[in-house]
Amino acid sequence: MKKFLLGTNWKMNKTLAEGLAYSAALMTIIGKYPQFEFFIIPPYTHLWKIKEALAAQKSPLKLGAQNMHEQDSGQFTGEISPLMLAEIGVDIIELGHSERRQYFNESDEAVNRKARAALKHGFTPLICIGEQQADKDYGVSKEMLAKQLKIALTDVPAAAIGQFWIAYEPVWAIGVAGTPAAAAYVEEIHDFLRRVLIDRYGPSGAAVPLLFGGSVNIDNARDYARLANVDGLFIGRSAWEPELFEAIMVALGTITK
Ligand code: PGA
Repeated sequence: MKKFLLGTNWKMNKTLAEGLAYSAALMTIIGKYPQFEFFIIPPYTHLWKIKEALAAQKSPLKLGAQNMHEQDSGQFTGEISPLMLAEIGVDIIELGHSERRQYFNESDEAVNRKARAALKHGFTPLICIGEQQADKDYGVSKEMLAKQLKIALTDVPAAAIGQFWIAYEPVWAIGVAGTPAAAAYVEEIHDFLRRVLIDRYGPSGAAVPLLFGGSVNIDNARDYARLANVDGLFIGRSAWEPELFEAIMVALGTITK
């Protein structure tokens, strides 16, 4: 039985002091919920210190970075390389979040290069895909998602299955201006993404963890989590306070997959 994945991306939030306090609180909380595998994705500047705190407690809480350059080193001012993140001992590399795509022009091709580099360095790429409101309105969500997924996974072999995760995050559902997705819609899309993965990899495509994110909160978390092809939840602002995150854990109860 796989553990249900539960994690949060802090985006550009929390000072280091706030991040350390949050991590300390979360490390204590997660001991009560062994049915989940937890991860946090803080800003780069916090990673060393938080990793030290996790290691000191031998915590199972996994640590991720919000982005990564695909080259090991070079003339790329402002970028962070796989070697630098490996030195810290980061587990997960989040790639292609809609805010990276929207504000920093990240393309599907760039996400693919970064995903392959992340795998090469032994990280778990957490590849985010999601359609825009306009795609949904035109009825082309599935086409857009299949394109994003297929390009992101180009030259990613079946041997990497289990090592990469996919997060479906509809752009129109993300953030304060987002509208939570209906569970039936999430079910339809996750079932579709599973078929795309099985077409691509054969039966082993069934083992790719598929997370859902976008305005996940205490009221809707369980409706999403119980869907057959939802293997985890990727939460933003509803998990940025340890007590609120714990309330979601309580609401989820026991999720067996
Ligand atoms: P949200 O963010 O939960 O605040 O909508 C989700 C995300 O961007 O991953």
